[in-house]
Amino acid sequence: MSQPSLLTIDRLHVGVRHRRAERTLVRDVSLSIGAAESVGLVGESGSGKSMSIKAAMRLLPHTATTGGRIQFEDRDVLKLNRRDLARYRSRDVALIHQDPRAHINPTRTIAQFLTEGPVHTGQMSPGEAIERACGLMRDVGIADAERRLAQFPHQLSGGLLQRVMIVAALLPSPRLIFADEPTTALDVTVQSDVMAILLEQIRDRHVSMLFVTHDLDLASAVTDRLAVMYAGSIVETAASAELCARPLHPYTAGLLRSRPSTTRVHRLTAIPGRPLAAYEARQGCPFVPRCPFAIDRCSVELPERRTIEGHSVACHRVEEIADRLQERVP
Ligand SMILES: Nc1ncnc2c1ncn2[C@@H]1O[C@H](COP(=O)(O)OP(=O)(O)O)[C@@H](O)[C@H]1O
Ligand SMILES: [Mg+2]
Repeated sequence: MSQPSLLTIDRLHVGVRHRRAERTLVRDVSLSIGAAESVGLVGESGSGKSMSIKAAMRLLPHTATTGGRIQFEDRDVLKLNRRDLARYRSRDVALIHQDPRAHINPTRTIAQFLTEGPVHTGQMSPGEAIERACGLMRDVGIADAERRLAQFPHQLSGGLLQRVMIVAALLPSPRLIFADEPTTALDVTVQSDVMAILLEQIRDRHVSMLFVTHDLDLASAVTDRLAVMYAGSIVETAASAELCARPLHPYTAGLLRSRPSTTRVHRLTAIPGRPLAAYEARQGCPFVPRCPFAIDRCSVELPERRTIEGHSVACHRVEEIADRLQERVP
Protein backbone atom coordinates (compact mmCIF):
# COMPACT_ATOMS: atom_id res chain seq x y z
CA MET A 1 0.00 0.00 0.00
CA SER A 2 1.34 3.38 -0.93
CA GLN A 3 -0.07 5.75 1.70
CA PRO A 4 0.83 5.54 5.39
CA SER A 5 -2.03 3.97 7.28
CA LEU A 6 -4.65 6.13 9.00
CA LEU A 7 -6.57 3.29 10.61
CA THR A 8 -4.99 -0.09 11.22
CA ILE A 9 -7.04 -3.00 12.47
CA ASP A 10 -4.80 -5.83 13.55
CA ARG A 11 -6.11 -9.29 14.41
CA LEU A 12 -9.42 -7.97 15.68
CA HIS A 13 -11.55 -10.43 17.57
CA VAL A 14 -15.10 -9.68 18.73
CA GLY A 15 -17.14 -12.05 20.85
CA VAL A 16 -20.38 -11.82 22.81
CA ARG A 17 -21.54 -13.77 25.81
CA HIS A 18 -24.34 -16.13 24.96
CA ARG A 19 -25.76 -18.47 27.63
CA ARG A 20 -22.53 -18.34 29.60
CA ALA A 21 -20.44 -19.32 26.56
CA GLU A 22 -18.62 -16.91 24.30
CA ARG A 23 -19.74 -16.57 20.72
CA THR A 24 -17.17 -15.36 18.22
CA LEU A 25 -18.59 -12.80 15.79
CA VAL A 26 -15.37 -11.41 14.28
CA ARG A 27 -12.24 -13.53 14.00
CA ASP A 28 -8.72 -12.34 13.32
CA VAL A 29 -9.64 -9.39 11.09
CA SER A 30 -6.73 -7.26 9.87
CA LEU A 31 -7.32 -4.26 7.64
CA SER A 32 -5.70 -0.91 7.04
CA ILE A 33 -6.97 2.28 5.47
CA GLY A 34 -4.63 4.96 4.22
CA ALA A 35 -5.16 8.72 4.10
CA ALA A 36 -7.75 9.60 1.43
CA GLU A 37 -8.11 5.92 0.60
CA SER A 38 -11.44 4.11 0.16
CA VAL A 39 -11.59 0.51 1.25
CA GLY A 40 -14.60 -1.76 0.79
CA LEU A 41 -15.62 -4.44 3.27
CA VAL A 42 -17.88 -6.86 1.43
CA GLY A 43 -19.75 -9.96 2.50
CA GLU A 44 -23.18 -11.49 2.89
CA SER A 45 -25.45 -10.54 5.76
CA GLY A 46 -24.23 -11.77 9.15
CA SER A 47 -20.57 -11.98 8.17
CA GLY A 48 -19.51 -9.47 10.85
CA LYS A 49 -19.12 -6.26 8.84
CA SER A 50 -21.15 -4.02 11.14
CA MET A 51 -19.56 -5.57 14.23
CA SER A 52 -16.11 -4.73 12.85
CA ILE A 53 -17.13 -1.11 12.30
CA LYS A 54 -18.69 -0.89 15.73
CA ALA A 55 -15.47 -2.23 17.23
CA ALA A 56 -13.45 0.38 15.33
CA MET A 57 -15.69 3.10 16.80
CA ARG A 58 -15.87 1.45 20.24
CA LEU A 59 -19.64 1.25 19.91
CA LEU A 60 -20.05 -2.44 20.72
CA PRO A 61 -22.65 -3.57 23.26
CA HIS A 62 -21.41 -4.02 26.85
CA THR A 63 -21.74 -7.78 26.51
CA ALA A 64 -19.09 -7.81 23.80
CA THR A 65 -15.40 -8.55 24.27
CA THR A 66 -12.71 -7.35 21.91
CA GLY A 67 -9.20 -8.56 21.23
CA GLY A 68 -6.44 -7.45 18.91
CA ARG A 69 -5.45 -3.91 18.17
CA ILE A 70 -7.07 -0.91 16.49
CA GLN A 71 -4.79 2.00 15.80
CA PHE A 72 -5.85 5.40 14.50
CA GLU A 73 -2.78 7.42 13.57
CA ASP A 74 -0.64 6.99 16.71
CA ARG A 75 -3.51 6.23 19.07
CA ASP A 76 -4.60 2.85 20.39
CA VAL A 77 -8.38 3.08 19.96
CA LEU A 78 -9.21 0.19 22.29
CA LYS A 79 -7.33 1.92 25.10
CA LEU A 80 -8.54 5.53 24.70
CA ASN A 81 -9.85 7.10 27.89
CA ARG A 82 -13.33 8.63 27.94
CA ARG A 83 -12.25 12.09 26.93
CA ASP A 84 -10.00 10.97 24.08
CA LEU A 85 -12.63 8.48 22.91
CA ALA A 86 -15.26 11.23 22.74
CA ARG A 87 -12.84 13.31 20.72
CA TYR A 88 -11.99 10.40 18.40
CA ARG A 89 -15.68 9.68 17.74
CA SER A 90 -16.69 13.28 17.28
CA ARG A 91 -13.75 14.63 15.26
CA ASP A 92 -11.58 11.91 13.76
CA VAL A 93 -14.14 9.42 12.49
CA ALA A 94 -17.81 9.50 11.55
CA LEU A 95 -20.41 6.86 10.85
CA ILE A 96 -23.17 6.76 8.25
CA HIS A 97 -25.75 4.08 9.01
CA GLN A 98 -27.85 1.97 6.71
CA ASP A 99 -31.19 3.30 7.89
CA PRO A 100 -31.13 7.03 8.64
CA ARG A 101 -34.58 7.03 10.24
CA ALA A 102 -33.51 4.55 12.89
CA HIS A 103 -30.66 6.84 13.96
CA ILE A 104 -32.29 10.23 14.20
CA ASN A 105 -34.46 11.55 16.99
CA PRO A 106 -37.89 12.18 15.41
CA THR A 107 -38.73 14.94 17.91
CA ARG A 108 -35.74 17.17 17.08
CA THR A 109 -35.39 19.42 14.06
CA ILE A 110 -32.73 18.86 11.41
CA ALA A 111 -30.92 21.95 12.73
CA GLN A 112 -30.86 20.54 16.27
CA PHE A 113 -29.71 17.15 15.00
CA LEU A 114 -26.89 18.62 12.91
CA THR A 115 -25.55 21.13 15.39
CA GLU A 116 -25.80 19.49 18.81
CA GLY A 117 -22.70 17.27 18.35
CA PRO A 118 -20.20 19.91 17.20
CA VAL A 119 -21.60 22.48 19.67
CA HIS A 120 -21.59 20.03 22.59
CA THR A 121 -17.96 19.07 21.98
CA GLY A 122 -16.98 22.73 21.80
CA GLN A 123 -15.83 22.46 18.21
CA MET A 124 -18.13 25.24 16.95
CA SER A 125 -20.50 27.87 18.23
CA PRO A 126 -24.20 27.32 17.36
CA GLY A 127 -23.93 30.05 14.71
CA GLU A 128 -20.86 28.52 13.11
CA ALA A 129 -22.44 25.06 13.13
CA ILE A 130 -25.58 26.33 11.36
CA GLU A 131 -23.56 28.24 8.81
CA ARG A 132 -21.36 25.24 8.07
CA ALA A 133 -24.39 22.92 7.95
CA CYS A 134 -26.08 25.21 5.42
CA GLY A 135 -23.01 25.22 3.19
CA LEU A 136 -22.67 21.43 3.36
CA MET A 137 -26.39 20.96 2.66
CA ARG A 138 -25.96 22.92 -0.54
CA ASP A 139 -22.85 20.87 -1.38
CA VAL A 140 -24.86 17.64 -1.14
CA GLY A 141 -27.63 19.03 -3.33
CA ILE A 142 -30.19 20.11 -0.72
CA ALA A 143 -31.52 23.24 -2.39
CA ASP A 144 -33.57 24.95 0.32
CA ALA A 145 -31.23 24.40 3.26
CA GLU A 146 -32.78 27.02 5.59
CA ARG A 147 -36.26 25.57 5.21
CA ARG A 148 -35.01 21.99 5.70
CA LEU A 149 -33.14 22.95 8.89
CA ALA A 150 -36.42 23.94 10.53
CA GLN A 151 -38.13 20.67 9.55
CA PHE A 152 -38.45 17.36 11.40
CA PRO A 153 -37.10 14.04 10.06
CA HIS A 154 -40.56 12.75 9.02
CA GLN A 155 -40.91 15.70 6.64
CA LEU A 156 -37.91 14.53 4.61
CA SER A 157 -37.75 11.63 2.14
CA GLY A 158 -35.33 8.77 2.82
CA GLY A 159 -32.89 10.03 0.20
CA LEU A 160 -32.96 13.55 1.59
CA LEU A 161 -32.51 12.27 5.12
CA GLN A 162 -29.49 10.23 4.09
CA ARG A 163 -28.02 13.41 2.56
CA VAL A 164 -28.56 15.06 5.94
CA MET A 165 -26.66 12.14 7.47
CA ILE A 166 -23.79 12.76 5.04
CA VAL A 167 -23.81 16.41 6.15
CA ALA A 168 -23.75 15.30 9.81
CA ALA A 169 -20.80 13.02 9.09
CA LEU A 170 -18.85 15.76 7.26
CA LEU A 171 -19.64 18.58 9.67
CA PRO A 172 -16.75 18.01 12.11
CA SER A 173 -14.29 17.46 9.18
CA PRO A 174 -13.40 13.84 10.08
CA ARG A 175 -10.42 12.05 8.54
CA LEU A 176 -12.31 8.78 8.08
CA ILE A 177 -15.95 7.92 7.41
CA PHE A 178 -17.39 4.50 8.12
CA ALA A 179 -20.27 4.05 5.69
CA ASP A 180 -22.30 0.98 6.72
CA GLU A 181 -24.51 0.07 3.74
CA PRO A 182 -25.36 3.76 3.29
CA THR A 183 -27.71 3.22 0.35
CA THR A 184 -29.17 -0.22 1.05
CA ALA A 185 -32.34 1.09 2.75
CA LEU A 186 -33.10 3.68 0.06
CA ASP A 187 -35.34 3.41 -3.00
CA VAL A 188 -33.33 2.22 -5.98
CA THR A 189 -34.07 5.45 -7.81
CA VAL A 190 -32.18 7.53 -5.24
CA GLN A 191 -29.46 5.02 -4.33
CA SER A 192 -27.07 6.06 -7.06
CA ASP A 193 -27.64 9.79 -6.39
CA VAL A 194 -26.79 9.42 -2.72
CA MET A 195 -23.78 7.23 -3.51
CA ALA A 196 -22.48 9.75 -6.06
CA ILE A 197 -22.85 12.59 -3.58
CA LEU A 198 -21.06 10.70 -0.84
CA LEU A 199 -18.20 9.83 -3.19
CA GLU A 200 -17.87 13.36 -4.51
CA GLN A 201 -17.71 14.75 -1.00
CA ILE A 202 -15.11 12.34 0.35
CA ARG A 203 -12.94 12.78 -2.74
CA ASP A 204 -13.13 16.58 -2.70
CA ARG A 205 -12.26 16.66 0.98
CA HIS A 206 -9.63 13.85 0.90
CA VAL A 207 -11.53 11.91 3.54
CA SER A 208 -10.84 8.19 3.87
CA MET A 209 -13.75 5.76 3.79
CA LEU A 210 -14.46 2.26 4.96
CA PHE A 211 -17.41 1.32 2.78
CA VAL A 212 -19.40 -1.66 4.01
CA THR A 213 -21.77 -3.46 1.68
CA HIS A 214 -23.05 -6.83 0.51
CA ASP A 215 -22.81 -5.53 -3.08
CA LEU A 216 -19.45 -6.45 -4.57
CA ASP A 217 -20.10 -4.60 -7.84
CA LEU A 218 -20.96 -1.37 -6.09
CA ALA A 219 -17.99 -1.71 -3.74
CA SER A 220 -15.55 -2.31 -6.57
CA ALA A 221 -16.83 0.76 -8.40
CA VAL A 222 -16.34 3.11 -5.45
CA THR A 223 -13.24 1.86 -3.62
CA ASP A 224 -9.50 1.47 -4.14
CA ARG A 225 -9.17 -1.80 -2.30
CA LEU A 226 -11.58 -4.53 -1.23
CA ALA A 227 -11.67 -6.94 1.67
CA VAL A 228 -14.06 -9.86 1.36
CA MET A 229 -15.48 -11.13 4.63
CA TYR A 230 -16.93 -14.54 5.33
CA ALA A 231 -18.09 -15.93 8.68
CA GLY A 232 -16.34 -13.20 10.66
CA SER A 233 -13.01 -13.44 8.82
CA ILE A 234 -11.44 -11.71 5.87
CA VAL A 235 -10.84 -14.32 3.19
CA GLU A 236 -9.38 -12.14 0.42
CA THR A 237 -8.00 -8.61 0.04
CA ALA A 238 -6.77 -6.97 -3.17
CA ALA A 239 -6.99 -3.81 -5.26
CA SER A 240 -10.66 -3.52 -6.26
CA ALA A 241 -10.20 -3.92 -10.00
CA GLU A 242 -7.82 -6.86 -9.57
CA LEU A 243 -10.06 -8.62 -7.10
CA CYS A 244 -12.96 -8.55 -9.55
CA ALA A 245 -10.86 -9.34 -12.62
CA ARG A 246 -9.14 -12.33 -11.04
CA PRO A 247 -10.68 -13.49 -7.76
CA LEU A 248 -8.45 -15.98 -5.97
CA HIS A 249 -10.75 -17.17 -3.17
CA PRO A 250 -13.66 -19.49 -4.09
CA TYR A 251 -16.04 -17.28 -2.06
CA THR A 252 -15.06 -14.12 -3.96
CA ALA A 253 -15.46 -16.02 -7.23
CA GLY A 254 -18.89 -17.20 -6.07
CA LEU A 255 -19.98 -13.65 -5.21
CA LEU A 256 -18.89 -12.48 -8.64
CA ARG A 257 -20.72 -15.29 -10.42
CA SER A 258 -23.92 -14.63 -8.49
CA ARG A 259 -24.31 -11.03 -9.63
CA PRO A 260 -25.85 -9.86 -12.90
CA SER A 261 -23.49 -8.45 -15.49
CA THR A 262 -24.39 -5.35 -17.45
CA THR A 263 -22.20 -6.37 -20.38
CA ARG A 264 -22.85 -10.09 -20.70
CA VAL A 265 -25.98 -12.19 -20.51
CA HIS A 266 -25.50 -15.37 -18.55
CA ARG A 267 -27.25 -17.49 -15.98
CA LEU A 268 -26.61 -16.44 -12.43
CA THR A 269 -25.08 -19.09 -10.25
CA ALA A 270 -26.02 -18.73 -6.62
CA ILE A 271 -23.52 -19.88 -4.01
CA PRO A 272 -25.13 -23.04 -2.59
CA GLY A 273 -26.08 -23.16 1.08
CA ARG A 274 -26.31 -20.20 3.42
CA PRO A 275 -23.73 -17.86 4.91
CA LEU A 276 -22.45 -18.71 8.38
CA ALA A 277 -21.77 -16.46 11.33
CA ALA A 278 -18.31 -16.87 12.82
CA TYR A 279 -19.61 -18.79 15.85
CA GLU A 280 -21.27 -21.39 13.58
CA ALA A 281 -18.03 -22.24 11.81
CA ARG A 282 -16.52 -25.60 12.65
CA GLN A 283 -12.89 -26.63 12.53
CA GLY A 284 -11.02 -25.79 9.34
CA CYS A 285 -12.05 -23.30 6.67
CA PRO A 286 -15.54 -21.84 7.34
CA PHE A 287 -16.38 -21.87 3.61
CA VAL A 288 -16.02 -25.68 3.32
CA PRO A 289 -19.78 -26.50 3.33
CA ARG A 290 -20.31 -24.23 0.29
CA CYS A 291 -17.01 -24.64 -1.52
CA PRO A 292 -16.85 -26.69 -4.74
CA PHE A 293 -13.10 -27.10 -4.30
CA ALA A 294 -12.95 -28.31 -0.69
CA ILE A 295 -10.76 -31.32 0.09
CA ASP A 296 -10.21 -33.15 3.38
CA ARG A 297 -7.46 -30.79 4.49
CA CYS A 298 -9.86 -27.81 4.28
CA SER A 299 -12.16 -29.37 6.89
CA VAL A 300 -9.44 -29.79 9.48
CA GLU A 301 -6.98 -26.96 8.99
CA LEU A 302 -7.86 -23.25 9.05
CA PRO A 303 -6.08 -21.61 6.09
CA GLU A 304 -3.64 -18.83 6.91
CA ARG A 305 -3.71 -15.66 4.82
CA ARG A 306 -0.97 -15.69 2.19
CA THR A 307 0.09 -13.15 -0.41
CA ILE A 308 -0.40 -14.51 -3.90
CA GLU A 309 -0.37 -12.43 -7.09
CA GLY A 310 -0.70 -9.30 -4.97
CA HIS A 311 -3.83 -10.57 -3.18
CA SER A 312 -3.94 -11.60 0.44
CA VAL A 313 -5.96 -14.81 0.39
CA ALA A 314 -6.90 -17.47 2.92
CA CYS A 315 -7.31 -20.68 0.94
CA HIS A 316 -5.19 -23.84 0.97
CA ARG A 317 -5.73 -24.50 -2.71
CA VAL A 318 -5.21 -21.11 -4.37
CA GLU A 319 -2.34 -22.16 -6.61
CA GLU A 320 -4.18 -25.22 -7.92
CA ILE A 321 -7.58 -23.63 -8.49
CA ALA A 322 -6.81 -19.99 -9.40
CA ASP A 323 -7.28 -20.46 -13.14
CA ARG A 324 -10.48 -22.47 -12.73
CA LEU A 325 -12.05 -19.75 -10.54
CA GLN A 326 -12.45 -17.49 -13.53
CA GLU A 327 -14.84 -19.94 -15.21
CA ARG A 328 -18.55 -19.29 -14.92
CA VAL A 329 -19.28 -22.71 -13.48
CA PRO A 330 -16.43 -24.21 -11.48
N1 LIG B 1 -25.68 -7.39 19.82
C1 LIG B 1 -25.44 -8.61 19.34
N2 LIG B 1 -25.36 -9.66 20.17
C2 LIG B 1 -25.11 -10.91 19.69
N3 LIG B 1 -24.92 -11.21 18.41
C3 LIG B 1 -24.99 -10.20 17.52
C4 LIG B 1 -25.26 -8.86 17.93
N4 LIG B 1 -25.28 -8.08 16.82
C5 LIG B 1 -25.04 -8.90 15.78
N5 LIG B 1 -24.86 -10.17 16.19
C6 LIG B 1 -24.53 -11.34 15.36
O1 LIG B 1 -23.20 -11.14 14.88
C7 LIG B 1 -23.04 -11.63 13.57
C8 LIG B 1 -22.47 -10.55 12.70
O2 LIG B 1 -23.38 -9.48 12.63
P1 LIG B 1 -23.13 -8.15 11.79
O3 LIG B 1 -21.78 -7.63 12.08
O4 LIG B 1 -24.27 -7.25 12.06
O5 LIG B 1 -23.18 -8.69 10.29
P2 LIG B 1 -23.21 -7.88 8.92
O6 LIG B 1 -23.11 -6.43 9.22
O7 LIG B 1 -22.06 -8.43 8.15
O8 LIG B 1 -24.51 -8.25 8.26
C9 LIG B 1 -24.44 -12.09 13.13
O9 LIG B 1 -24.49 -13.50 13.28
C10 LIG B 1 -25.38 -11.43 14.11
O10 LIG B 1 -26.51 -12.23 14.33
MG1 LIG C 1 -24.46 -4.89 8.86
